[in-house]
Amino acid sequence: LIVIADSDREFRARVIEQAGRDDVIEARRMSDVEKIVAERRTEVRVVLLGPSFATSTGLALAAKFQVEAPEIGVIIAAKTVTADLLRSALHAGARDVLPYSFTPEQLAAAVARADSVARHMRENISPVIDLTDARHRVVTVHSSKGGVGKSFVASNLAVLLAQRGNDVVLVDLDLQSGDLALMLQLHPRRTLYDATRESERLDEAEVRGYLTRHPASGLSLLAAPTEPGLAETITAESVQSVLRVLKSAFQYVVIDTPPLFTDHVLAAIDETDVLVSVTAMDVPSIKNLRVSLQTFELLGVRPERMALVLNRADSKVGLSVGEVEKALRATVDVCIPSSRDVPLSVNRGNPIALDAPKSAVTSALTKIAELVDEVGKLPPPRRSIASKLGVGRKR
Ligand SMILES: Nc1ncnc2c1ncn2[C@@H]1O[C@H](COP(=O)(O)OP(=O)(O)OP(=O)(O)O)[C@@H](O)[C@H]1O
Ligand SMILES: [Mg+2]
Repeated sequence: LIVIADSDREFRARVIEQAGRDDVIEARRMSDVEKIVAERRTEVRVVLLGPSFATSTGLALAAKFQVEAPEIGVIIAAKTVTADLLRSALHAGARDVLPYSFTPEQLAAAVARADSVARHMRENISPVIDLTDARHRVVTVHSSKGGVGKSFVASNLAVLLAQRGNDVVLVDLDLQSGDLALMLQLHPRRTLYDATRESERLDEAEVRGYLTRHPASGLSLLAAPTEPGLAETITAESVQSVLRVLKSAFQYVVIDTPPLFTDHVLAAIDETDVLVSVTAMDVPSIKNLRVSLQTFELLGVRPERMALVLNRADSKVGLSVGEVEKALRATVDVCIPSSRDVPLSVNRGNPIALDAPKSAVTSALTKIAELVDEVGKLPPPRRSIASKLGVGRKR
């Protein structure tokens, strides 16, 4: 099936005549194209976008298909084929660009090419691809030292990702002394403990029953157990299965961790797509991070999947960012300045991202969210965070 999309009826008629086949369907609007593809996904081989759609809208659709329906070939016919258009079309993943006055032969050749690529892809990808999976990401915030600002970073990162229109769950994996509920002024009725008790049976809908919604940001919290004693009865396996269910239900699972490599943390790292490593600017913290980085390497966490965050980076402590990078043999991705607003917002129970959206601290936190969100938008195979930023990590 070929979909001919253009607002101009004459153009559509000409193409249909030239194509000389009966499996051609017309679309007058862009939304019609999406509807046809959604309904007849397995039949559609080629979408030909006419001159009225050879615009950024058309290219956006081509880019969307490239990710969500890569087996469908998009051909663009433009009034004037410029180098710019060619380049953008190529980037968007269009299979071909035709001049407006294309001949029947040119059309047939383009369709045949797109069709053969389509057939090849259909044969080589599994028919049940989870179209949404590319956007589901687990982000773990970690540091092997206490008090460096993990919970502060994790909670604000979750808020900012939610503000960017993502469905976000924040998980408090600090089972002994998690205080995210406090930091967000929430009063959870159920906690991670309750969820892990049902971990065998939980599905995407049921798991939501264990969450507490944060009205100001829209994120959902899976709170730490209220009694520290319960932590010991929670197995790492049950945590892992809860995380897997959350991962399929939410676009982002942001995990706050205790300052240790507990079995629960290791289970979380196993599920992690982006690891945010937080450190303070003192020698013991940096020494600890150096050891953690080696541990991550042993655990198989690839350096390009890590973001290194230096918290309270402007503290007058006699260390420079350059020195820290040298000691770690790694590049610092984001520096968060020290500010009185942080303890103020923590004490108010209102994340600084909401409390002081224009502050330097919030703009540093936004950089982390952008980094994580960029990676989250990419279709697998994942590209490295470092290469996204144009920085090479020396390790
Ligand atoms: N950039 C900053 N400027 C000023 N204060 C900060 C900053 N970052 C964190 N803090 C303060 O440091 C304290 C510890 O932060 P937080 O609780 O997030 O650390 P943590 O790493 O989660 O600690 P723990 O290991 O105990 O869980 C908080 O009181 C917070 O207000
Ligand atoms: Mg904490």
